[in-house]
Amino acid sequence: MYEEWETLKNDCLKCKKCRLCETRTNVVFGYGNPLAEVMFVGEGPGEQEDIQGKPFVGRSGKLLDKMLLEIGLSREENIYIANIVKCRPPKNRDPLPEEQEMCINWLRNQTALLRPKLIVAVGRIAAMKIIDDKIKITKDHGKFYKKGNILFMPTIHPAAILRNPKQKILVEEDFLNLKQKIEEICTLTYN
Ligand code: URA
Repeated sequence: MYEEWETLKNDCLKCKKCRLCETRTNVVFGYGNPLAEVMFVGEGPGEQEDIQGKPFVGRSGKLLDKMLLEIGLSREENIYIANIVKCRPPKNRDPLPEEQEMCINWLRNQTALLRPKLIVAVGRIAAMKIIDDKIKITKDHGKFYKKGNILFMPTIHPAAILRNPKQKILVEEDFLNLKQKIEEICTLTYN
């Protein structure tokens, strides 16, 4: 385990544990407030994220930022954003189970340093990897799951909303649940 963000990030940026390193432009480590109480975890970088080296900066990311802002959250201020895999899978395919497994220790270390109270799993892949592999995102989004000292909430991926805008209302409901939970259990996020 790491004791400092800087050494963790430096090592992560050099990672060659799986073949995704061969096709990446940048490692997408994560971004946000290292003192945040709330963490968002997506599945992996897409094209824009790979180019810019930051999570959720493409179309999905813009939509995510907009929905976050509606409940008073922003990556600059009070959340931290990371992904299950730190390198872009070619043609945006789902990260393979073995790629997720090779990469998950970076996220474990990020979580250990951040010590968040709440983690939002963005999309099916993240929810199944960090909450429970039996999660059905269409049925279980917006519910809370307690694991150790951390509460987890799965939500629908913004890319799914871009494909099917009718689902936006579902995520807005999830985010209102989240806001309420933050008000209950977090002391710094809205203060
Ligand atoms: N989708 C994700 O799951 N993560 C990103 O960083 C970008 C898009």
